[in-house]
Amino acid sequence: MTDYREKYLEMLKIVEQKIDEYVKFKHPTSIYEPFRYIMDSGGKRIRPMLAMICCGAVCGEPERALNGAVAIEILHNFTLAHDDLMDNSPFRRGRQTIHLKWDEPTAILTGDVMVGCAYALLPNFEQNRSASRIYEEFTKALIVVCEGQALDMEFDRKPSVVLADYFEMIEKKTAALLTASAAIGARCGDADEDLLKLIKEYAWNLGIAFQLQDDLLDLTADEANFGKKIGQDIIEGKKTYLILKANEKALDLESRKLLDNFYIHHGLPEEKVPAVRAMMQQYGVFNDIATEIDSFYRIAKSNLEKLPQSEYKEMLCWLTDTLLRRNY
Ligand code: IPE
Ligand code: IPE
Ligand code: MG
Ligand code: MG
Ligand code: MG
Repeated sequence: MTDYREKYLEMLKIVEQKIDEYVKFKHPTSIYEPFRYIMDSGGKRIRPMLAMICCGAVCGEPERALNGAVAIEILHNFTLAHDDLMDNSPFRRGRQTIHLKWDEPTAILTGDVMVGCAYALLPNFEQNRSASRIYEEFTKALIVVCEGQALDMEFDRKPSVVLADYFEMIEKKTAALLTASAAIGARCGDADEDLLKLIKEYAWNLGIAFQLQDDLLDLTADEANFGKKIGQDIIEGKKTYLILKANEKALDLESRKLLDNFYIHHGLPEEKVPAVRAMMQQYGVFNDIATEIDSFYRIAKSNLEKLPQSEYKEMLCWLTDTLLRRNY
């Protein structure tokens, strides 16, 4: 397959320039400084790139989706600012999180203003005749992500969570925004309903694989690469795929004790993280999740096959393969 890296990086540069242009300091700096800080801290920019490439895949001109793409990236960064507060995460993208570098009210209000700014960037009816549909996709995604985050939090204290609950939760907290990114991109390119449906299915499968992978990386990544604290999900008592699967499979006394403590205390102290990792290794849980990830990626790729031939379709295939191998 052709290496689309160079073309991808060219498009990424356009997205980065637009972000840069948008997040100039405004008044009051108490919210715009942290806003700029999180937007400037890197990130893979998967969502805006998905919007741009999906727009290209339906009309050939990715830049028609540029404003919508940046709006989505701002919305994503809002979810991260609030997620870090909710998850007590000390750093992200290798930098201290907003609620620690500043304080909690700052993280809340910065997140709020980001939602407003994201809306302000969406195309209006004069710019795009699908504007009302784009708004709809965007609002729906915002609501569903909040619902997913609510489930994520509820599950911390709920002992009876099963894998089906987990999949509902990640569909909402993560796949919904990837799906909206692709859909908004396609709508910016005036895609017809059939094409839109395909593109959404693709992004949904990609989104599920993406969150499973994030959960896996929480325990297996290199901290410097990942940019987030390793084991934070275990410390915080998150009912990830890994924990639920381990809970299904683990039988020996030692592992049962570890898991029971995780469930009773809604998480474990940091020093227990290596033992949790070893237990998951012992019961083949990392292999299970890898198989699961692979199968969602395969479905995502098969969704792409039905798209009309174009270099952007090929680029989506390349991106999907690249994401499957990610280590951050
Ligand atoms: C982090 O998203 C939150 C998840 C949905 C897993 P990303 O992994 O896309 O984060 P950045 O934007 O690249 O930092
Ligand atoms: C990501 O969940 C979902 C959202 C931010 C909406 P996580 O809590 O797993 O994300 P990270 O790992 O902190 O990036
Ligand atoms: Mg988190
Ligand atoms: Mg979270
Ligand atoms: Mg995570």
